[in-house]
Amino acid sequence: MALGEILFEKYGISASVLEQTDSTNNLAKAAATAGAAEWSCFIANRQTGGRGRTGKQFYSPEGGLYLSIILRPRFSCEANLLITTAAAAATKSALLSVFGKNAQIKWVNDIILDGKKVCGILAETALMGNSPAYTVLGIGINLSGNQNDIPDELKSIMGFIEKTPVSDEQKAALTAKIIEEFKKYYVNLESKPHLNFYKENMICDRPITVVREDGGFNAKILGLDDDFHLIIEGDSGEQKLSFGEVSIRL
Ligand code: BTN
Repeated sequence: MALGEILFEKYGISASVLEQTDSTNNLAKAAATAGAAEWSCFIANRQTGGRGRTGKQFYSPEGGLYLSIILRPRFSCEANLLITTAAAAATKSALLSVFGKNAQIKWVNDIILDGKKVCGILAETALMGNSPAYTVLGIGINLSGNQNDIPDELKSIMGFIEKTPVSDEQKAALTAKIIEEFKKYYVNLESKPHLNFYKENMICDRPITVVREDGGFNAKILGLDDDFHLIIEGDSGEQKLSFGEVSIRL
């Protein structure tokens, strides 16, 4: 059975599965605008125009899991932040459960395995007035590949979950587990049910570079506050970073 069939038959998940597209987030946004139901999924085996946060490209070669899910959140306050962090927690759990890999979360939207990024998350929200009309939750996982095939500029930062190809059964199991774990958080997301798990599984106590539009500086991660602000210590003492304001480099 192909991936779409396994997802539907075994897990009851409706997904459009493509070999290639520019960005599954683009597909999901078009479908959401046209009225597609919450939890509709879009999956590709490779993307030609994968997008990351802060306008960066997300390199999306063959063999990854590029997944976008349509959500219709019923709250507006910090929807993107809570959806992104809950998806990171759900993906972390699913990678452990399906592949036995103990990855860590890198604030705010990355998953790291053996020091390399194996997953990025991008939630994009369209507003109607002040309320979200829909959010597209995009999750890109470097499931399988060879370190030698990565472009030179990404070699030191990008990694893979597995070295050998991953079957459609495993891809379906991973997709289903991510959605199952995410749903547990999503039903009550405003109360931040994933906060403690996120804190416990986040990379901490590490030197980092904080990257802002106006430059960067070195600091150390101290922890996370209850609003998902990253607490860091730099030359000018302790400070808190907000989602959207900066990104960090390990
Ligand atoms: C990041 O690293 O900043 C986030 C990357 C998000 C990538 C996923 S792959 C599925 C979906 N389609 C996209 O174009 N982006 C997201």
